[in-house]
Formats: sequence, C-alpha cells, structure tokens
Amino acid sequence: MSDAPIVQMTGITKDFTGVRALDGVDFTLRRGEIHAVMGENGAGKSTLIKVLTGVHDPDAGRILLDGEPVRFHSPGQAQAGGISTVYQEVNLTDNLSVAENLLAGREPRLGPFINFRAMRRKAKALLDEIGIDLNVAAPLSSYSIAMQQLVAIARAIDIDAKVLILDEPTSSLDRDEVAVLMRVMRSLAERGTAMVFISHFLDQVYEICDRMTVLRNGTLIGEWAVSELPESELIGHMLGREVQTLGALEHRAARHRPDDDVLVSARGLGRKGSVSPFDLDIRPGEVVGLAGLLGSGRTETARLIAGADRADSGALEFRGERLRGHNPRTASARGIGFCPENRKTEGLVGDLTVAENMILAMQAARGWARTVPPARRDALVAEFIEKLDIRPADPDLPVKNLSGGNQQKVLLARWMLIEPRLLILDEPTRGIDVGAKADIQRLVNELSEDGMAVLFISAELEEVTRLSDRIAVLRDRELIDILHQESDMTTDRIVETIVEKGGDK
Ligand SMILES: Nc1ncnc2c1ncn2[C@@H]1O[C@H](COP(=O)(O)OP(=O)(O)OP(=O)(O)O)[C@@H](O)[C@H]1O
Ligand SMILES: [Mg+2]
Repeated sequence: MSDAPIVQMTGITKDFTGVRALDGVDFTLRRGEIHAVMGENGAGKSTLIKVLTGVHDPDAGRILLDGEPVRFHSPGQAQAGGISTVYQEVNLTDNLSVAENLLAGREPRLGPFINFRAMRRKAKALLDEIGIDLNVAAPLSSYSIAMQQLVAIARAIDIDAKVLILDEPTSSLDRDEVAVLMRVMRSLAERGTAMVFISHFLDQVYEICDRMTVLRNGTLIGEWAVSELPESELIGHMLGREVQTLGALEHRAARHRPDDDVLVSARGLGRKGSVSPFDLDIRPGEVVGLAGLLGSGRTETARLIAGADRADSGALEFRGERLRGHNPRTASARGIGFCPENRKTEGLVGDLTVAENMILAMQAARGWARTVPPARRDALVAEFIEKLDIRPADPDLPVKNLSGGNQQKVLLARWMLIEPRLLILDEPTRGIDVGAKADIQRLVNELSEDGMAVLFISAELEEVTRLSDRIAVLRDRELIDILHQESDMTTDRIVETIVEKGGDK
C-alpha cells in the first residue's frame, strides 16, 4: 500500500459567529489507514469532517483528494467524489423503510419505476454482509438509534467509498454491534478504504486505529501513531489537564441503604410486544442500573416507569401511591425526570437557546401560565452550565450550534434542574468526552447522595457497574435478574448473567 495521502487538509480555519471552531488545522489521511480524530466535546472534530465533506465552507485552507485540489459544496458532491460519511446525528429519513434508506438515490429500477422487490432483496443482502438482520420493509424509525446507525454504515459501504468517515458511530452500540462494526472496518481497510473514526471510547480507538490526530479548542495538537501514544498522554493532549475519574470513589454497593423506604415499586409491569411483566423497586438515593444487550428492552423498561409508554399489565406505585393514567406530564409533575436517548427527536429543540432548552421541563411542570421568574431562570441556567461545563458557556446560543456532546449536557441539565425524586437517564454519557463523562458520573453520584433515585441505562457496562447500587439485567425484553451484591458489580458478572439465564430457556 502506498503511503501517499488520500486526503490532505492544510491550514483549515472555520469561524462560526463568535467561535473559531478550527484554527489553521492540518490533517492527513493515508490509504487503507484508520485514523482517529480525538478531542474534547467542542474541540472541532465534527467541524473538520464537515469542512471535508462540503457541509461547511472553510474560511481558509486547502483540501487535496488523491493529490488534486477539491472543494465540495454539499455532502452529495463529496459522496460522488468518493467520500462517504456517517454523521454523528443520524441523518437518515425516519419515515422511509430500511431498504429505501439504504438505497436512496440508487434504487433498482424497472423502466421509470422503482423495483421494490429488487430493492428489498438488495438491501437484505447488504445487511447480511455486515451481519445484521432487520426487516428491510419496516420503517427505519421503528428501529433503535443503534440499528439506524448500522444502516447508515451499510449505506456508506455500498457506495464503495475511497474514504469512509464515521463520526461517533459506536456511541449507542452494544458490544456485539461494536464487534460487527470493527470487523467491517478491518475488512474495508484491507480493501484499501481509508477511514476517519471519531469516538469517545478510548479502548475502541486503541483497538482499531493506526494513527490519531488530536485537536483541542480548534487547534491541532499533533498526530501520532496509536502504538506510540499511551492513553494517559493522549488524555493529557486532549484535555490539557488531568482527569479525575470516579475510580477513587468508594464502591457504591458498599453503602448502606434502608430497605423499607421504597420510592418506586413496579409489580408485574409490562407491555405486550415491548417488555415482559417485571417487578422492580427503587429506593430514594439509590442508583439502579439497567444492563443488557441492544434490543434487550432497557429503554422500553425505562419508558414504562417514566410514563412515556403505557403499561398494559401490572401496577406502578410512586411514593406509595398507585399511578393511574401515568404519562410524561403527570410524571414530571410528580418529580420523575426522563432524559431519553434520542436527543434530537425526543429531546432538544434546535432553534431554541441553551437556556430555553434547559428550562423546558421546569416550565412544563409549573404549567405554562406561571413562567419561571427570569432571575431564577438565569441563576439556574448559569449554575448548570458551570456544573456540566457546557461550552461555549453562553445561555443565549441556539442549541443546534453546540457540539454533539455539549447538546447532550444541555439535555441532562434540563432534568437535573427540576431536582426530580427519580431521574431516569437513558444513555446520558453518549457522545460525552472522557473528562465530561467523569463530571457527569460524579454529578449523578452527588445527586443520589442527596436522596435522588436514579435509573441508569448505559451500553457501557463498566459505567453501569461503577455507578449502580443494584443492576437489573435484561435479556430478550425480560428482566432476568437483579444483581445486588458488591461482588456482582462487575462487567463479567453481567455478561455471565445474560448468557446463563438466557441459556435456561
Ligand atoms: N453550526 C454551527 N454554528 C455555530 N457554532 C457551531 C456550529 N457547529 C459547531 N459550532 C461550534 O464549533 C465548535 C466545534 O464544534 P464541533 O461540533 O466540531 O465539536 P466536536 O469536536 O465534534 O465535539 P463533540 O465531541 O461534542 O461532538 C463548538 O464550539 C461548537 O459550539
Ligand atoms: Mg462532534
């Protein structure tokens, strides 16, 4: 394989109003390599990608593709030029079928008509190739974000790109899905496709990448062979400071909790086709983790407790009161906060400002007739911008102008700020950098110490074991066990539980 770069970007500068997202950045991508772009939330990673793929016009700089100067003006042009991208925010069309999404623009035709049968067959074959099994005729929106992401990747692969860009493709995938993706990436690299991989999971970067480029605050810090840059040094380059991880915390399970005081009690709660009936108690000040593979029913379980979906069996009690007609509005009025996994469609309103987005749940809980007094609102917003280190620290920016990780922090702030009795967090650290992740874990820990109960979902088992007092393990949409002993709070135990109990049936 020749060492000639396939992509060479030099002196790239990009200004947004008030922010220099990139400042004279150089980036080189070689044939057949997997190259990580690393940096904190807001460092400029996605912007660099978007300049390359024609989403944004750079204010300065040069781009060579295969040695030729190029300047794309749309992702479509970039794609035609051989650069395929899976953006951080899934950019497929929800209401179209899986097959339509996979083959959009390249549908097999019969004369002037789309040949739907051939399209479905081709889509199926493509997904088979990367080892995922979906009903290609079903709307894409009926699948989880993770599945949607894999469909986007399959689409990029089908186009047979020279360059494939993956901006946080793994943030919502479970271990098996990640393994599938890595296998696909390796085989593409062997075929000579160059890849840019952006991920906040350092272990994945170390496993799959050849080189990395580190950005901080829009500037280039350097480029290294992965084998030559130990993780601690990488973190130092990314953050420009040391991270204090939660590692030093006493293990949560070791803390004593009164058994009699139950905040939430689910008995036989279930919903046909979604989650089998389950029993679960959550006590004040307790963090209960939900662990399981993709599609195991974690989100569905959380949604029943949150009132986002209606249960068709069983009962849910909250502070001793049987909840009837449980829905998101009554739930938040009672002090149940639900931070959903899909920040784009269920969470943030892009055109509203950071402050407006943050205050939304509090305002809804008070009723729209009683606006939150401006002084109180400003104080709360400022407090949480600081606590979560949201950058830029400007409450008046439209939230869509923030980087992906910073958007996620705004969504978290929305729910933390109402001081719920129960906070349900579905993948709260998805897309969050190492430093901020530790901040969020610490915050969850603090809030629970103040008596808030937390139901916590994460595909990262390590994070679940670290934060949880007890772990409810799910498999095939069924709660199969609740781990509670300190010795059980390990990723190995969770995996064993899933395998063993699954084998019983
Ligand atoms: N469309 C936009 N308008 C205004 N500012 C923007 C826009 N897009 C990005 N920015 C700003 O540019 C900077 C870099 O953002 P970018 O999305 O590239 O970060 P990132 O490294 O991808 O972060 P993350 O890890 O959170 O995804 C941030 O300060 C962000 O707020
Ligand atoms: Mg980004």
